[in-house]
Amino acid sequence: MRVLVTGGAGFIGSHLVERLLSDGHWVRVLDDLSGGRLENLDGVRNHPCLQVVIGDVRDLATLQAAMEGVEVVFHLAAVVGVPRVLADPLRTIRVNVEGTERVLEACAERGIPVCIASSSEVYGKGVRWPAAEEDDLRLGSPTVSRWAYAVSKLLDEHLAMSWARRGLRVSVVRYFNVYGPRVDPQGYGYVIARFMDQALRGEPLTVYGDGRQTRSFIYVSDAVEGTLRAGLLPAASGHIFNIGHPEEISILALAERIRVVTGRQVPIRFLSFSEVYGPGFEEAPRRVPDVSKARVLLGFEARVTLDEGLQRTWEWWRTCRRV
Ligand SMILES: NC(=O)c1ccc[n+]([C@@H]2O[C@H](COP(=O)([O-])OP(=O)(O)OC[C@H]3O[C@@H](n4cnc5c(N)ncnc54)[C@H](O)[C@@H]3O)[C@@H](O)[C@H]2O)c1
Repeated sequence: MRVLVTGGAGFIGSHLVERLLSDGHWVRVLDDLSGGRLENLDGVRNHPCLQVVIGDVRDLATLQAAMEGVEVVFHLAAVVGVPRVLADPLRTIRVNVEGTERVLEACAERGIPVCIASSSEVYGKGVRWPAAEEDDLRLGSPTVSRWAYAVSKLLDEHLAMSWARRGLRVSVVRYFNVYGPRVDPQGYGYVIARFMDQALRGEPLTVYGDGRQTRSFIYVSDAVEGTLRAGLLPAASGHIFNIGHPEEISILALAERIRVVTGRQVPIRFLSFSEVYGPGFEEAPRRVPDVSKARVLLGFEARVTLDEGLQRTWEWWRTCRRV
């Protein structure tokens, strides 16, 4: 197939591109390199079936040209990561909402199936855990900038569901903390990137808050598999899927696990959220997915264990990481 990946020079996008190429597809990447980097595509840069277009997904002429001849779209381009969102919530909303709106319209005009990347952030502080796709959501106040990202992604999901009702083949994937080689320390799953960076430098691992907040982490090859199934299987259309690993771990336990995996006996240092992000920052105490919908409809389950995934990420971090 001829596939367009927006945000294909980013962390997850570049892994998706590699996988699509190795499965025999022809791939066009559209990325403005505001968060991603061309180096992420180094492994496939000279592949005859890859074309890279540098441009803003919101620019209509650029998007129209990028859609030329395409049969399916994976829309991953977005402003991602708490530091970037806090630095410019307005840009976050504009890029994430306008970008998705334009991609959906372009796909609808041409009748092209599309998969939209969303986030576990839409659950906010959560109503119940593990959280399922049709659960109610509990977001914080608009006076707290961090929720700008969650709301932008939630609006993307509403746009997608509205277009699905009009007959567009569209699915949504809600990622839960993706990690692996090329994970961006400024990006979403950045607690693992931060810990590995600190371990490599022999510095203390900085745990924010008391470290008892929990998360689940999915290795990037699993996230890519879930994304492909959601984008390519007709049964996925009109649905939202949690793409995550069901294993829940506290951030303090994660820091301890990283000390073991890296073999670096660095101390753990606690910092309050307000020291890191300023006063009024809000954090979700838990975040873990109910993965049954993806299992039933997509036949998808994450396979890589946290220990295995951390080992592979550390291997890359030690040998290839470029700051
Ligand atoms: N990594 C995670 O754990 C995680 C979790 C939840 C959701 N997501 C979602 O998955 C997708 C990919 O995330 P990622 O972690 O790979 O982040 P990333 O920042 O590495 O990738 C996003 C890419 O989009 C590009 N981009 C940003 N604005 C653009 C624009 N206007 N036009 C064209 N390209 C643009 C960036 O340059 C970057 O390459 C995003 O939609 C993100 O919201 C990721």
